[in-house]
Amino acid sequence: MSIKPRKILVTSALPYANGPIHIGHLVEYIQTDTWVRFQKMHGNNCIYVCADDAHGTPIMLRARQEGIEPEALIARVAEEHKADFGDFNIGFDNYHSTHSEENRVCATRIYERNRDKDHIARRTITQAYDPVENMFLPDRFIKGTCPKCGAEDQYGDNCEVCGASYSPAELKNPVSAISGATPIDKESDHYFFKLGDFEQMLKEWTKGGHLQAEVANKLDEWFEAGLQEWDISRDAPYFGFEIPDHPGKFFYVWLDAPIGYQASFQNLCDRTEGLEFDDFWSKDSDAELYHFIGKDIIYFHALFWPAMLHGADFRTPTAIFSHGFLTVDGQKMSKSRGTFIKARTYLDHLNPEYLRYYFAAKLGSGVEDIDLNLEEFAARVNSDLVGKVVNIASRCAGFIKKRFEGKLSATLSEQALFNEFVQAGESIAERYEKREFSRAVREIMALADRANQYIDEKKPWVMAKEEGRDQELHDVCSMGINLFRLLIGYLRPILPATAEKSEAFLQVEPLTWESLATPLTDHQVAKFKPLMTRIEPKQIEAMLEHSKEDLAAQDAKKTKPHETATEGHLTKDPIADTIDFGEFAKVDLRIAKIAKAEHVEGADKLLQLTLDLGGETRNVFAGIKSAYQPEELEGKLTVMVANLAPRKMRFGVSEGMVLAASPGGKDLFILNPDEGAEPGMKVK
Ligand code: MSP
Ligand code: ZN
Repeated sequence: MSIKPRKILVTSALPYANGPIHIGHLVEYIQTDTWVRFQKMHGNNCIYVCADDAHGTPIMLRARQEGIEPEALIARVAEEHKADFGDFNIGFDNYHSTHSEENRVCATRIYERNRDKDHIARRTITQAYDPVENMFLPDRFIKGTCPKCGAEDQYGDNCEVCGASYSPAELKNPVSAISGATPIDKESDHYFFKLGDFEQMLKEWTKGGHLQAEVANKLDEWFEAGLQEWDISRDAPYFGFEIPDHPGKFFYVWLDAPIGYQASFQNLCDRTEGLEFDDFWSKDSDAELYHFIGKDIIYFHALFWPAMLHGADFRTPTAIFSHGFLTVDGQKMSKSRGTFIKARTYLDHLNPEYLRYYFAAKLGSGVEDIDLNLEEFAARVNSDLVGKVVNIASRCAGFIKKRFEGKLSATLSEQALFNEFVQAGESIAERYEKREFSRAVREIMALADRANQYIDEKKPWVMAKEEGRDQELHDVCSMGINLFRLLIGYLRPILPATAEKSEAFLQVEPLTWESLATPLTDHQVAKFKPLMTRIEPKQIEAMLEHSKEDLAAQDAKKTKPHETATEGHLTKDPIADTIDFGEFAKVDLRIAKIAKAEHVEGADKLLQLTLDLGGETRNVFAGIKSAYQPEELEGKLTVMVANLAPRKMRFGVSEGMVLAASPGGKDLFILNPDEGAEPGMKVK
């Protein structure tokens, strides 16, 4: 077989650089990585690039809030993202950033080529402006009363209560979410990408087999609604690239984000002998280009992106592969239920291969949402991977080692069965190619059942006890190991770490699709080490608890100076929206005596306090360890919020909150009431 290898460039969407990777993101990165690993294993020249999406207002404001430069924020987040992806075995060939010189060059080129062909318009628009912060406000940063239902505190683009969408100008009593000031209208010149110029081209492209059917249908709706000009500029202050000849104007983050695919690839070319940018991006390129994305960003990838590329004389994508959203136990990921699980939190408790397998077992080629059912997750991994696949190797390896010095039989005893397994590879490969991973998994597991059935029928453990059956025992166990090798080969795109451990056991080179058809005979294997352990329910519980605790820490970080308490990380937040007196009066502040203060095992910041409220005692976890030794606190009086709803944390339930104020670290002062106060007294 010597078919010419395909040249394939693959991307996943670029995660925003203002937050951690969570298991929702991982659906995409695991899906893409599995597909890429399959392509590589199948002998294709497949390159997988990604980057952080580092520009935009949220990133600028987040950095400001933390009191650091945006560059410092995105550098820190990039390290976190890379570590998370690395530990999940996402095998990027390059991971770059949109805030890079390569991206500036690529973005400028695409902009200028479109501009020179008259695809960019300039117009004056009126926009909401924050007169205190001196900046234009994106819709998401304006809040007010919903014009439809009257719900307060709604975002400038849609109401979370009644679901209405509207323009910020329709919002009643609008305020800037940044400063709280009432926005004013202000004019500004903006640059627009004339999407309508590309209507014909896009209509043809949409029908050219580059999109999933349901996505192509969605595009038809958009065509019917009419293609609007797209505002690609933003005014200073903005974290992004200044538009070449227009100082003070910046490219909107979504203009340079997809161009980050090019930039990351360019960066790789610059470091790789023989890899040429034009081979993959020029109009006459014979390479394939695929973008894996979530269904929320189809508009950008299926309309703007091909149009921008076409306008700049680049090739357009071979296909856009969209996937659905992750739900956990049938619901949207939720911080309060602990199901908003960060990649890192998952890694602290569970093997990444489990999640890779589970997602693969659920993923099809469509855009349906996929559900992580935590019970099913454990059951599936335990029964399929531990119970079926790994089991075959462990059932056979012991005998091979003990009775045959680790050497496999010289011939295959069941050539037909082996051939059946090899044959199945064709269909499995097709499933992978079409991103029908759940079907690939089903076919592989059917083979695993078949292999176990073979061992069950032959009963090597009986042979081992009977005289004169050594050859038979050797053959059966060698067959078992060979079948295991095929199973692991087929699962390799999904389970790269387990495959690697298996290759070490088998003492073979990294398995390729082509190599699978040749069995291992008369071959020395290494000592078998357990490849994977079962998922214990308590690991999942601990992960959910940990996620809730992350949330508590995050909430504490967000507390405003006047209400700082549990975790005591103060940042330069603006004063929060005002509350009325009625709301304030609901806070029941009481004098409490610190009856007991103790360290909490495993917590870096918390002390566990037993608070005496004059008869009633409360258990409270307070983030004041950096400033106080437990001994210093016992016997002292403090002020607590006595009617805060109890909150379950990793270490127990916290039944209130102690008031403290601090700039952070060691300078953290808990509030001590005047002498004469008695535990339980109301604070006025
Ligand atoms: N920065 C943009 C993408 C720019 S691409 C040129 C972005 N970033 S994101 O961090 O919000 O999302 C990155 C990818 O993860 C997107 O494809 C998004 O659809 C996907 N997902 C984010 N949350 C998800 C789930 N809960 N479930 C499945 N995929 C999800 O969008
Ligand atoms: Zn409403």
